[in-house]
Amino acid sequence: MSANLCPHFPSFGSAGAPFSATILPMQKQRLFTGLQPSGALHIGNYLGALKQTTELLQSAEGLVMIADYHALTTLKDPSELRENIAGVVRDYVAVGVDPKKAIIFQQSSVPQHTELAWILDCLVTVPFLMQAHAYKDKVAKGLDANAGLFTYPMLMAADILLYDTDIVPVGADQKQHVEYAREAAVKFNTAFGETFKEPKEKILDAVAVVPGTDGKKMSKSYSNTIPLFGTKDEIQKAVMSIVTDSKAESPENVYNIHRLFRDREELSALYKENKGKYKALKDALVEDIEAVVGPMRARRESITDNDVKAILADGGERARAQAEKKMADVRNKVGVTI
Ligand code: ADP
Ligand code: TRP
Repeated sequence: MSANLCPHFPSFGSAGAPFSATILPMQKQRLFTGLQPSGALHIGNYLGALKQTTELLQSAEGLVMIADYHALTTLKDPSELRENIAGVVRDYVAVGVDPKKAIIFQQSSVPQHTELAWILDCLVTVPFLMQAHAYKDKVAKGLDANAGLFTYPMLMAADILLYDTDIVPVGADQKQHVEYAREAAVKFNTAFGETFKEPKEKILDAVAVVPGTDGKKMSKSYSNTIPLFGTKDEIQKAVMSIVTDSKAESPENVYNIHRLFRDREELSALYKENKGKYKALKDALVEDIEAVVGPMRARRESITDNDVKAILADGGERARAQAEKKMADVRNKVGVTI
């Protein structure tokens, strides 16, 4: 890499620079994140996870993964899964991930993920995995969790650890999973010697939990979402359904979403001017969402099926090369390479 890695030393690294032999170039941080191809994105996914991913990728090296094997824990419809996988590639590119720089790839195209997950599964105990929220919530609802859901945290740990990841940009609900990845790294390193970096989650406080149309966390499981790449009409319909208290002066649920799109001062003037006029405030919110989403929607529509295939083929190859290097070391350390 010949790019100038250190902005404070303009000539750093160039031939003949006085310090080039003694100062090591600043290492770029390595970023890893993933999304399950389990349905259309909503603005909570964008503000909580995707937006900061694209911002961090300006200065970090990164991999963004389509977690298709994770999605199999819930999704059993092959044609829907296929469609969703292509959809996530389009989503990533539309929000600004550059496939020439970042590696965009499918989890299933790098078998080293499930291979490492097995090794990590053999290092952790059943009670340790029983603490995972996703598993506990399912059991609390009286539902049967499949074994894939139970071991989900170790597959996610494998995703992250294979690439010497420093940071994992996610929404607050994924914090525990990144903690599991850290603990898995420590357990492996303690048992077999220093191998994995301990990754850190990157959660933006202001958007850690984006509220939905009912004021609770926006989630596709609660049917309270505002679609990210819906048509303007669909966004309008979702915004009009935001629950408001008819006695209040200001519609709190509208404001709590609106403040994520406009600065506080402008917003307080707007809400003062329109005291009690919920329809006008909701219309203003639709326009503010559209100003952000419109250009991304247009970019998304320009991505062809062939573009998607080419991005995945290239990303898969680049990810496999890195993952195999790490797994060769892991196989050797655990003793299966003879
Ligand atoms: P959902 O809850 O709708 O099923 P996912 O679990 O697929 O969403 O989340 C994908 C990513 O988006 C994760 O990093 C998650 O933390 C983030 N995310 C999801 N919902 C929100 C939200 N309401 N606020 C902030 N981030 C969110
Ligand atoms: N569990 C994440 C979610 O549901 C998706 C995911 C899988 C992921 N592997 C990952 C996120 C690795 C970050 C890093 O949203």
